[in-house]
Amino acid sequence: MDRIAVLTSGGDAPGMNAATRAVTRVALAAGASVCGVSNGFRGLVEGTLRPLGARDVGGIIQRGGTVLGTSRCPEFRTEAGRARALQTLEKNGIEGLVVIGGNGSQQGSHALAGTGFPVVGVASTIDNDLAGTEITIGVDTALNVALEAIDRLKVTASSHRRAFLVEVMGRRHGYLALMAGIAGGAEAVVLPETETEPAALAEQIRVAYERGKPHALVVVAEGATWTAAQLASHFEEHERELGFELRITILGHVQRGAVPTAADRLLASRLGGAAADALISGERSLLVGWQRGAVSTSPLAEVIAQTKSLDPELLRLAGALAQ
Ligand code: F6P
Repeated sequence: MDRIAVLTSGGDAPGMNAATRAVTRVALAAGASVCGVSNGFRGLVEGTLRPLGARDVGGIIQRGGTVLGTSRCPEFRTEAGRARALQTLEKNGIEGLVVIGGNGSQQGSHALAGTGFPVVGVASTIDNDLAGTEITIGVDTALNVALEAIDRLKVTASSHRRAFLVEVMGRRHGYLALMAGIAGGAEAVVLPETETEPAALAEQIRVAYERGKPHALVVVAEGATWTAAQLASHFEEHERELGFELRITILGHVQRGAVPTAADRLLASRLGGAAADALISGERSLLVGWQRGAVSTSPLAEVIAQTKSLDPELLRLAGALAQ
């Protein structure tokens, strides 16, 4: 394979640039030329791509976001959109594509691969909701951002003896919230994967105070049945149920824009490099991820057919540590 393209798709994740850099430089080292597609699959549909040399990806490993740009592209979900994308690839002499992105993006990869075009995915999303990998690019950085916020909120919460609800991203998956809860020493976590009723949560918070804690910090996943805002308005209406002053903080996109941590830069470099190697050596329809301490590959068809679940051991641990 002499010419490949690379794109980043879906929500930007810290480390995407390191992955783009690795794909480019490993492909160049193998003698292939590389094109960078602008703005995810939209760039394929609209025909916006440019050649990438080693210097074009210099100075980006430490930058958050994605220099290629990204998007969510509904048009690519249609056959007509994918036909336009294929025309772009053909017109530019591209023989294979690396897609750096999460769940929705790898569904796009699978659809394109279904036309016979060689595609390899790289697992990248702060949500860590992608099967076929234990961890995705961007999670470590997003988690560290959440922890910094949680540590600060605990300080002010303790000063006022308040309870805080901190909402973290993760779409419909509770991984970020669970890990932030464990690493941040939260008194409770509210997840999409487990049912938490406000009355039960109020009880957990009350018990924390009764045990002598000066604060109660609850990490809420954005995809939980009760979001932080809904819980807060419920407790406002049932003030006595809680018995404590409550504040909420929604971290939102703040979690996405950070400088990638060492762990994310290294993961992205390894996965990006492995994706370029795999594509150039003729492999296709795969997701490159990280499993059992090493780079792994899984068929895209299997990856998108599965729903990633939370490790029940971690759920149990979070409960025990919250005491
Ligand atoms: O998939 C990454 C993510 O940040 C999710 O955690 C969140 O639900 C979503 O993207 C937000 O999407 P957008 O940036 O389009 O608002």
